[in-house]
Amino acid sequence: MKQFAVIGNPIKHSLSPILHNWVFKFLSIKANYRKIHVSEDEIPNIIKEIRDGSISGINVTIPYKESIIRYIDEINPRSIAIGSINCIMKSQSKLIGNNTDWFGFCKTIEKNQIKIREKNVFLFGAGGTAKAIIFALKQLGVNKIYLFNRTVSKANKLKDNIVSPHHYNELDNLINQDSILVNTTSVGMQSNDSPIKLGLINKQNILIDVIYNPLETCFIKYGNSIGAKTINGLEMFIFQALASLDLWFGESITKQVNFQQIKTYLEENIC
Ligand code: ATR
Repeated sequence: MKQFAVIGNPIKHSLSPILHNWVFKFLSIKANYRKIHVSEDEIPNIIKEIRDGSISGINVTIPYKESIIRYIDEINPRSIAIGSINCIMKSQSKLIGNNTDWFGFCKTIEKNQIKIREKNVFLFGAGGTAKAIIFALKQLGVNKIYLFNRTVSKANKLKDNIVSPHHYNELDNLINQDSILVNTTSVGMQSNDSPIKLGLINKQNILIDVIYNPLETCFIKYGNSIGAKTINGLEMFIFQALASLDLWFGESITKQVNFQQIKTYLEENIC
């Protein structure tokens, strides 16, 4: 039986095993998917397991989407441009790294009919997920990305003609009525905190959170309470996972999967 896994730290929140094992069962694929809590110094062991075939593919989540790149033999050009990977597989004798987060974000934007072209986006976080979303936003024709991160030096490294790094204390003056706000930080996953002061958010803003467990972070809950349009991380999560499966199996096996059916199943399984 083929083995797959997601690695990260923390990993408790991950619904990847529930999603992937549901798809395996639905498509009658003999495979198993589990989550593995991995500390930085355990990464080489996991890499060894992919190399020796004990694991056929892994997803990578917080905080290793960038640091794991150094262990991989080949990164596809798009992932090189992004600078982070969330999906690894072995092809012949090489470990190949891919990024399906950017695709998951684009599909979510498309599904929810959000217009990004010529718009300004406020992005919180500058880690591996942020990099994939910056890439996606550029593909979608964004005008400008105001980038905020706790560690300002990390945001500064992403500066270019579209991405403009700022301190969180500048947010009050920059945010406006129709801003699109995207949280890529882990704030709200394990606590009832918001990445930004809630008082800065207004009804006309569109709020997007990459966190899907809980379905309603403090950020999303507040947006809902004032009647703003909000999107949690569940759809992006599903789209990136289905894209990973298609890469591992080398064909569009997930075409047969009903998106809404799996979304409902996951919603029921979030405690
Ligand atoms: P991922 O791969 O999911 O993007 P990551 O690369 O570890 O994970 O990035 C996590 C992001 O959440 C980072 O931008 C991090 O900010 P720092 O660069 O300053 O570490 C942000 N983050 C995590 N915990 C945070 C907190 N308590 N307050 C603000 N930002 C936080």
